[in-house]
Amino acid sequence: MTTTTGAGHRQVRVALLGCGVVGAEVARLLNGNAADLAARTGARLELVGIAVRRPGRDRSAAGVDPALFTTDTAGLVSGALRGPVDVVVEVIGGIEPARTLILAAMAGGASVVTANKALLAEDGATLSAAAEKHQVDLYYEAAVAGAIPLLRPLRESLAGDRVRRVLGIVNGTTNYILTRMDETGAGFADALDEATALGYAEADPSADVDGFDAAAKTAILAGLAFHTRVTAADVHREGIGEVTAADVASAHEMGHVVKLLAVAELAEDGRSVGARVHPAMIPLTHPLAGVREAYNAVFVECESAGQLMFYGRGAGGAPTASAVLGDLVAVARHRVSGGRGPAESTYADLPVHPMGQTTTRYHIRLDVDDRPGVLAAVATVFAGHGVSIQTVRQEERAGQASLVVVTHAARDEALAGTVAGLRQLAVVDEVVSVMRVEGM
Ligand code: HSE
Repeated sequence: MTTTTGAGHRQVRVALLGCGVVGAEVARLLNGNAADLAARTGARLELVGIAVRRPGRDRSAAGVDPALFTTDTAGLVSGALRGPVDVVVEVIGGIEPARTLILAAMAGGASVVTANKALLAEDGATLSAAAEKHQVDLYYEAAVAGAIPLLRPLRESLAGDRVRRVLGIVNGTTNYILTRMDETGAGFADALDEATALGYAEADPSADVDGFDAAAKTAILAGLAFHTRVTAADVHREGIGEVTAADVASAHEMGHVVKLLAVAELAEDGRSVGARVHPAMIPLTHPLAGVREAYNAVFVECESAGQLMFYGRGAGGAPTASAVLGDLVAVARHRVSGGRGPAESTYADLPVHPMGQTTTRYHIRLDVDDRPGVLAAVATVFAGHGVSIQTVRQEERAGQASLVVVTHAARDEALAGTVAGLRQLAVVDEVVSVMRVEGM
């Protein structure tokens, strides 16, 4: 449904919830590109109100009529304040009040465009059920990897294919930190300090550094890729706080680089899915290895399409607003033509297998005594857990040896058991570095 103005022009009435870095840019683009957006959608996108928490702030950058701002978010969404709304754009983030507002918007017949990864990853089921019930659109391209068109390709372009694996760098802050560690040899703490000083890391960097942000995005990607409900709680999560300069150096020595990877994959037998976020070494020849600084990229492996790579800016006002506007245009077009876009698909309903059952490879660096029988003792621990060794390299330093072992693929629980066994071995002085290896 659209409103028709006196001049006979169709209107799609838009309410914007939030006017932070992304919201202000959405407002600015809606205003500045109004004629193009109208030509592309077949209706004028009319911004009817912008809900903000602190009305006194200087928002002149958004370039909109100050009269649009309101603190009456519920009134704006319900239509009580500024009249009926066709689309609600939610860029306030967090679980509440965002969920209540989105559900109210849908109950009132409005479609929703949101960038709220945390909410989608925690309670996407409730949002999708409401969209279905009220026959409205729920679009969220900006929730994962900012500007990068990724969710629509997964949901639409690849709907005829079978996705086997999604491997991504979906958090710019951690990618920046790891890039600096790689380039300068800095430790984690120093690289984090630099990222904070440059504005890449938040004052409380936990959501990024501990992998929560990436885990929410992984849940969304896994759900779309495998037509299955996956929540953030299903995603195995390890952050980058434990990554040491020694890990990064060790990766370098074997022609690898350390990245925080988001992995969503179908089990070999196709009967379950895995979803995980953890630091991993990837070969320098892998396309993801060249993704540096705060950039994001997602590598998708499909049965028929083969390998695809999506690359770009994963955060920031303008890049994220681009994704929001793209969704807004899609939703507005549906309002003009009638009907909805493709809704969520969870028909496969596959179980999510635990991390222990995931197949991975490990890189392990050990300081050991340099005497006969040591290598045999180390190899016995691997064999005892059924883990096959791919390569062993030895470096010597004054009576001590450093062994670098890379395994073949094995169950993660067997690999973890191997590391625990190595730590108990008398000939092992220290397990210096343990990291999964992907992309080989
Ligand atoms: N904090 C995120 C990042 C951006 O560093 O990539 C928003 O998802």
